[in-house]
Amino acid sequence: MQKKQTLLSIAAMTLIAAAPTAWAQAQAQTQGKLKVGFMLPATGTFASLGTAIDNGFRLYVTEQGGKIAGREVEYVRVDDESDPAKATDNVNKLIKRDNVDVIVGTVHSGVAMAMAKAAKESGTLLLVPNAGAAAVTGAMCAPNIFRSSFSNWQPGYAMGEVAAKKGHKKIVTITWKYAAGDETVKGFKDAFEKAGGSVVKELSLPFPNVEFQALLTEIAATKPDAVFTFFAGGGAVKFVKDYAAAGLKKTIPLYGSGFLTDGTLEAQGADAEGLFTALHYADNLNNKRDQAFRLAYAKTYKLQPDVYAVQGYDAGQMLGIGLNATKGDAKNINGFAQALRSAKIDSPRGSFTLSKSHNPVQDFYLRKVVGKENVVEGIASKSLADPGLGCKM
Ligand code: BEZ
Repeated sequence: MQKKQTLLSIAAMTLIAAAPTAWAQAQAQTQGKLKVGFMLPATGTFASLGTAIDNGFRLYVTEQGGKIAGREVEYVRVDDESDPAKATDNVNKLIKRDNVDVIVGTVHSGVAMAMAKAAKESGTLLLVPNAGAAAVTGAMCAPNIFRSSFSNWQPGYAMGEVAAKKGHKKIVTITWKYAAGDETVKGFKDAFEKAGGSVVKELSLPFPNVEFQALLTEIAATKPDAVFTFFAGGGAVKFVKDYAAAGLKKTIPLYGSGFLTDGTLEAQGADAEGLFTALHYADNLNNKRDQAFRLAYAKTYKLQPDVYAVQGYDAGQMLGIGLNATKGDAKNINGFAQALRSAKIDSPRGSFTLSKSHNPVQDFYLRKVVGKENVVEGIASKSLADPGLGCKM
């Protein structure tokens, strides 16, 4: 009799313990598939950056058995072509036509600003896995908008501190004329001029132009102590090659935000050797989390990951943290935001938290190109937070 009762109570306890899981499963079934809308560049100078983000995000989802918070993940894709003029139409396809639960995108700052506007108006969750536009986690910040990457100001500021410490006084900057270039240079100037240096000339050309020759001639004539630059993707490959071909690499040190040499070293070859940059990722961090990530990424895609892959992976992790807290409910923005605001995200870059305006607070590494790797030389700026200017939440 006693044995029968014990067995009965064990069975009851098992049922009670299983109830939340069964309930969560039932809930996930009612919610249906989780529609993730990728708005990334598949063509143009940033195409390979878009692919790496897509790869990183999907790697995380695969590791979760293809589900987030019990909901099977389904992908819808739009090629944004890194074209701000098409951005509003493109993001509205995902929000209004495809009715996605969450948007993941994008690379280009100008496109991201249009996405943030649409996300803010519609209340759709937006995870930004690259674009560093200040406004996204500044004046346009919102409870449903999060960034897994950086603000443009951050790597610029980190490199400005390094350039000053190296003893340079007179620097020329060169970049594309759009939010990412302008804001990266602003970050650099903020740190470099605070430390007593001066930016003597700010050169730029329209995105995505790569006709650098006239500007390189101007740099040679100005004879600064060093040059600081923001270029990325195909433009970064061409700039590094042209800088070396113009004979400047031997005479005027070239510094960059780390996008100058991330995901580009195969194509840049010896012309990138020895370049110093600052970024929130590097190729030899040698922490366990990064080692496991790099192994899994290389096994899955037969490629080495870069910073864009990490940012895509972490956008996946952030979606997981938020949706696990809301039991898969992508409309529960308050619950989602609360979970992320108190989270420590266990990233391959090293763990990071989010600022009040939902931008990563993270370490920036000083890296040096050695062969095909961006090797860590030290920390350029510890736990660097974007000022989040204009954010009211
Ligand atoms: C941007 O437009 O924000 C951006 C593009 C490529 C690399 C980094 C930033």
